[in-house]
Amino acid sequence: LISRAFRHQFIIPDFPGFTKHIEDFYWKCKSNTEGKVASYIPQLARMNPDYWGVSLCTIDGQRFSIGDTTVPFTLQSCSKPLSYAIALERLGQEVVHKYVGQEPSGRNFNELVLDHNKKPHNPMINAGAILVCALLKVLVKPEMTLAEKFDFTLNCFRKLAGGENLGFNNAVFLSEREAADRNYALGFYMREHGCYPEKTNLRECMDFYFQCCSIEVNCESMAVIAATLANGGICPITEEKVLKPESVRDVLSLMHSCGMYDYSGQFAFKVGIPAKSGVSGSLLVVIPNVMGICTYSPPLDPLGNSCRGVQFCEELVHEFNFHRY
Ligand code: DON
Repeated sequence: LISRAFRHQFIIPDFPGFTKHIEDFYWKCKSNTEGKVASYIPQLARMNPDYWGVSLCTIDGQRFSIGDTTVPFTLQSCSKPLSYAIALERLGQEVVHKYVGQEPSGRNFNELVLDHNKKPHNPMINAGAILVCALLKVLVKPEMTLAEKFDFTLNCFRKLAGGENLGFNNAVFLSEREAADRNYALGFYMREHGCYPEKTNLRECMDFYFQCCSIEVNCESMAVIAATLANGGICPITEEKVLKPESVRDVLSLMHSCGMYDYSGQFAFKVGIPAKSGVSGSLLVVIPNVMGICTYSPPLDPLGNSCRGVQFCEELVHEFNFHRY
């Protein structure tokens, strides 16, 4: 980092100048009071709607944070691209996509629907993510118990985050499991249609899905995860090769087309960069070959995306031409 600094070879040459703009966008979005905090479990309903944080990490490890960036929150749906990444890494694209599609569903994230081949539409919605959890449990290191598989997964996520600030929120896990009628319905519906690999234990698979959703992070560690994806799978902080570039390409492709639920098409059109939102209010944003960004603000729009997070991305792309096209 230091030698690059002397040679003025950073990916964003005037980083302090750039972050001044980020601060401006931050303050602009702070006054946005739209949206509602998720209320389906008490732990999320209690979240402070005023929390607002933005962290970024470039592919050469320059970092900037503003606002509530050390407040812990659960991954929720932001776990979906990460568990999908591990499945791709361990099983390859062909095996994973025997079980799950690549099309946007055009429906809500938890809708009881499969595609024409009786597969979940993609790994970024609940049905697809539950199925990816089954693949991780049954096909990746099948000898592991559920406890071992959880440790293994947490450890993979931690490597993506450069070893930083990952925990587990047991109260959220227990509540998720209690308030999961729809997810169980999805789980059974997929079993009825023979979606799972042989030897899948549905109860274990559902628990594993809820556990992945209940892993706790903060904005700063999530920005490093996004930066690892922006950097082709090499963590910019530790320089460890965590994912193959092929796995990262697949993850970003589906984040681009399916990462923002039923707003994905509009987001791809307006903002044009891969992103994934979660119901706790986080937004994982990847600008390939430049940087990773995480925004955190609990109030959500009717489709389940963080209002301030979406606005921030729009402001960013309006000022800087990060749109892929
Ligand atoms: O499965 C669920 O319903 C949640 N635990 C996660 C879904 C989620 O984050 C949807 N986000 N907008």
